Amino acid sequence: MSNTVSSPVSFTTIRSTTARTVAERDSILADPGFGKYFTDHMVSIDWTKEKGWHDAEVRPYGPLQLDPAASVLHYAQEIFEGLKVYRHADGSVWTFRPQANAERMQRSARRLALPELPTEIFIESLKQLLAVDAPWVPSAPETSLYLRPFMIANESFLGVRSAHRAAYYVIASPAGSYFAGGVKPVSIWLSTDYARAAKGGTGAAKCGGNYAASLLPQQEAYENGCAQVLFLDPLEGKYLEELGGMNVFLVRKDGTLVTPELSGSILEGVTRASIIQLARDRGHEVQERKVSVQEWRDGFASGEIVEAFACGTAAVVTPISVLKGADFTVGDENAPAGKLTMALREELTNIQYGRTADRHGWMMRLA
Ligand code: COI
Repeated sequence: MSNTVSSPVSFTTIRSTTARTVAERDSILADPGFGKYFTDHMVSIDWTKEKGWHDAEVRPYGPLQLDPAASVLHYAQEIFEGLKVYRHADGSVWTFRPQANAERMQRSARRLALPELPTEIFIESLKQLLAVDAPWVPSAPETSLYLRPFMIANESFLGVRSAHRAAYYVIASPAGSYFAGGVKPVSIWLSTDYARAAKGGTGAAKCGGNYAASLLPQQEAYENGCAQVLFLDPLEGKYLEELGGMNVFLVRKDGTLVTPELSGSILEGVTRASIIQLARDRGHEVQERKVSVQEWRDGFASGEIVEAFACGTAAVVTPISVLKGADFTVGDENAPAGKLTMALREELTNIQYGRTADRHGWMMRLA
């Protein structure tokens, strides 16, 4: 994968004068959790209709100054991305398929009427941040530095139209497992009262509004002892879409993998696409199609479906043991993680951590 494309904006770096000490950083990296701690620096790039992208900076991590009339605060004109940086055994740090994130952010920008950030600037912004914050990439097994690029409309204007001013930022957060219990099977709550997306809506975009809509049903999932909520299609309320923050796969007993097709209202997960590729490489059939919740319920109950898993950048590949709804439970919460689920997880993480050959050219060195 080429590392040589140059960015059309040049970056200025302002180093933090209050950076954490090595001892403070080490104590955070020893138990990072997910999304709780942030590194010493961040990226910011401004955009205006007149000037395009300009004033690219790596600067000390800190609060944003926003006018109270900034459009993002009123009309939620916001998009984001998530990708991870992995430390390899030789100390080098790498990220996974960043072009795919850059391109998805461009699609999200189009849907949210935000400016598209060129791929070269997106990738350069990650390299520039890692040039100063690489020591924040942890090295313990299965830990990483989670990068959160995001874009907001920050024009001070209350009329409802796409903003003429926006800003792109990248913050970084050392990460262990997304789920508090680590890599062990989770239960999923079926939401029937709420939908995440609508036909023609923003479901395929990675925008904050989709996640805002998932929070109440996600709370319902927690109240029912489940780690994630499952949404069904908004038209018929029959077919699987995605979980609160990740895609979903089922494994049939003949080894076929089944995952909801990209319906226009689910997120085009980079991990989802990578798992499809790795499973096909192993000779498994992978079906991207409509999958009814009844198929999952019946299949889990009859043994036709032998494994289920969630996948995403944050979740990696997380086994699912139980599907629960208001009036049913299928699966066994004491069941061990599925064999194929764990094999795919291992293969993906082996590539990400440089433990196996990167035969698809997915990795890019950042520092
Ligand atoms: C990710 O997996 O990167 C996500 O964006 C999911 C979630 C943490 C919002």
